[in-house]
Amino acid sequence: MLSFWIFISCLTLVACGHGENTVIKDGEEAFGEMSTPNESLHYLIKYNMRKSLDLDLDGCYLQVGRKESLQECGFNATAKTIFIIHGWTMSGLFESWMTELVSALIQRETEANVIIVDWISLAHQLYPDAVNHTQRVGLSIAQMLNWLQDEHQLPLSNVHLIGYSLGAHVAGYAGTNVRGTLGRITGLDPAGPMFEGVGEGNRLSPDDADFVDVLHTYTREALGVSIGIQQPIGDIDIYPNGGEVQPGCSLGDVLAVAGNFMEVMKCEHERAVHLFVDSLMNKDHMSFAFQCTGPDRFKKGICLSCRKNRCNNIGYNAKKMRKRRNSKMYLKTRADTPFGGYHYQMKMHIFNRNHSDNADPTFHVKLYGAHDDTEKLFVDVPNGVGLNLTNTFLVFTEEEIGDLLNITLSWEAPSDSWNSFWKSLKQSFSNKTATPVLEVRRIRVKAGETQKMFTFCAHDKTEISPGESVSFGKCRDGWEVKPRKRLVA
Ligand SMILES: *[C@@H]1O[C@H](CO)[C@@H](O)[C@H](O)[C@H]1NC(C)=O
Ligand SMILES: *[C@@H]1O[C@H](CO)[C@@H](O)[C@H](O)[C@H]1NC(C)=O
Ligand SMILES: *[C@@H]1O[C@H](CO)[C@@H](O)[C@H](O)[C@H]1NC(C)=O
Ligand SMILES: *[C@@H]1O[C@H](CO)[C@@H](O)[C@H](O)[C@H]1NC(C)=O
Ligand SMILES: *[C@@H]1O[C@H](CO)[C@@H](O)[C@H](O)[C@H]1NC(C)=O
Ligand SMILES: *[C@@H]1O[C@H](CO)[C@@H](O)[C@H](O)[C@H]1NC(C)=O
Ligand SMILES: *[C@@H]1O[C@H](CO)[C@@H](O)[C@H](O)[C@H]1NC(C)=O
Repeated sequence: MLSFWIFISCLTLVACGHGENTVIKDGEEAFGEMSTPNESLHYLIKYNMRKSLDLDLDGCYLQVGRKESLQECGFNATAKTIFIIHGWTMSGLFESWMTELVSALIQRETEANVIIVDWISLAHQLYPDAVNHTQRVGLSIAQMLNWLQDEHQLPLSNVHLIGYSLGAHVAGYAGTNVRGTLGRITGLDPAGPMFEGVGEGNRLSPDDADFVDVLHTYTREALGVSIGIQQPIGDIDIYPNGGEVQPGCSLGDVLAVAGNFMEVMKCEHERAVHLFVDSLMNKDHMSFAFQCTGPDRFKKGICLSCRKNRCNNIGYNAKKMRKRRNSKMYLKTRADTPFGGYHYQMKMHIFNRNHSDNADPTFHVKLYGAHDDTEKLFVDVPNGVGLNLTNTFLVFTEEEIGDLLNITLSWEAPSDSWNSFWKSLKQSFSNKTATPVLEVRRIRVKAGETQKMFTFCAHDKTEISPGESVSFGKCRDGWEVKPRKRLVA
C-alpha cells in the first residue's frame, strides 16, 4: 500500500523518478521548463514521422512552415495520417509500448504517415503541470494539421489521432481547435485525475472528431481517484472486463515477473494500448464489445445483442456508427494476446423441488463444441441463483470450440469432503427431503460472437442435487433459431 501512496502523490503533487528508485525532484528543477518563453515551449513539441520500426533511429521531423520537411519525410497526403500521442511520463523516455504500437501500425497500414507527437519534456513534469500543457500541445497539433491542409489539401477525414492517458485529452484539444473535423480520435485509457467530471471543452469529448472511440482499462477508484477516467467521453466507450481489473494484471501475476506494485497499475493502465495493438495484429481474431447500461447487467449476460449497432469491434477495427454519444460497451478478454474470447448468454429456468428454498447452488457448465470442449466454467450469478424463475448468466470461453453441441451443468459441492458429508447425511437420515433438489429442463443459449441461438434440452434426468450433473443436447424443437443479424467479419 505504501508504494500506492507514493504513486498517488507522484501523480498529484510531485514529479518522481522512474520505477522503484522514486526520486522526488525539488520544485526548481521540475519547474525548469516552465520559465522558458512560449516560443521555446513550441519547440519542445516534435513531430517524429516513422518509417522504420527502430525507435533508436532518429526518424524524420515535420516542421510547420518548412515545406521541405514534408518531402524529406516522404509525407503522402493521400494516405492515412496517424498521430500517436503519449501521456504523462515519470521517466522522461518513451515507454516500450510506443515501439509496439508504431510497429503494429506500420505493418497494418503500410502507406500511412505514422507520426509520434513527442512532447516528452512537457510531459515529464509535475502531473498538474503536464496537465496544464495538454491544451498547448493540442493547439500545436491543430496548427500542424491546419498547415497540412493549406500546404497539401490534407483531408482531415483521413486523420486519426491515437492518444494514451493524458495524450487522449491532448487529442481532444487538437480536435477542438483544428479547422474542420478530424476523422477519428482513439482514447486509450484517458487520464482521470483533473479530467473526471470537468466540462466537455476541457477533456476529450464526442465533438472532437467525427468518430471518437475510447478504451477504459483502469477505472478502479482508490483514495478518491482513478488513473483512467471513469465517465464515458467518446461516441463509444468500451470497458474491457468492466474497465476495472484486467486479467493477468493482479499482484500475483505481475509479482512473478516484475515484483513491483507500480507494475500492477502500469499493467492495467497500459492494457488499453495492448488491446489496441492486438486489434491491429490479430485481424482474424477480433474482439467484440456489446452495448450495455452497466457492468452488472453485462455480467449477467443480458447484453449480447448486435441489433441496431449494439455491438462493435474493439480497437482499430471499431466501426463508426451514427453519432451515439457515450455509448457504454463491455466485453471480457483473455489475459494475453490474442485477447479475444467467446461470450455466451445462457438462460435457464430453475425449478425448486422438495422445498429447497435455501439451496443456494454453485453451478459450473462445460461446453462441448464441434472443434473442442471447454473446461468446467464457474457460473457467476452475481446476486445468487433465483429459484422458480429464469436465470440469465454470461459464460466466457478463451478457446474457440466451434458450434456448440452439448452442455453439462454440474452442481459443485463446496468440496469433496462436503460432498461425502452429504452422502453420509443421506445415509444416516432416511428423511431424504434434507437433500436440496432443483430441476432444469432446458438451457437457451445465444453466442455473442456469431449471434446464433440454440435451445438445449436435458437428455434423461432433469433434476440436480449437490455433487450431481445434468447433460443437455440440442433439442429438436429449438434446433437453431435463425440469427437476426450476423456480425460482418
Ligand atoms: C504565453 O502566451 C500567452 C498568450 O499567448 C501569454 O498570455 C503568456 O503571458 C505567455 N507566457 C509566457 C511565459 O511567455
Ligand atoms: C500515397 O498513398 C496512396 C493511398 O494510400 C497510394 O495509393 C499512393 O501510392 C501513395 N503514394 C506514394 C508515393 O507512396
Ligand atoms: C496552468 O497555467 C496557468 C498559466 O499558464 C496558471 O495560471 C494555472 O494556475 C496553471 N494551472 C495549474 C493547475 O497549474
Ligand atoms: C418454488 O415453487 C415450489 C413449488 O413448485 C415451492 O414449494 C417453493 O416454495 C417455491 N420457492 C420459491 C423460492 O419461490
Ligand atoms: C423430515 O422432513 C420433515 C418435513 O418434510 C421435517 O419436519 C423433519 O424434521 C425431517 N426430519 C429430519 C430428521 O430431517
Ligand atoms: C422429493 O420428494 C418426494 C416426495 O415429496 C420424494 O418421493 C423424493 O424421493 C424426493 N426426492 C429427493 C431426491 O429427495
Ligand atoms: C450430445 O447431445 C446429443 C443430442 O443432441 C446426444 O445424442 C449425445 O449423447 C450428447 N453427447 C454427450 C457427450 O453428452
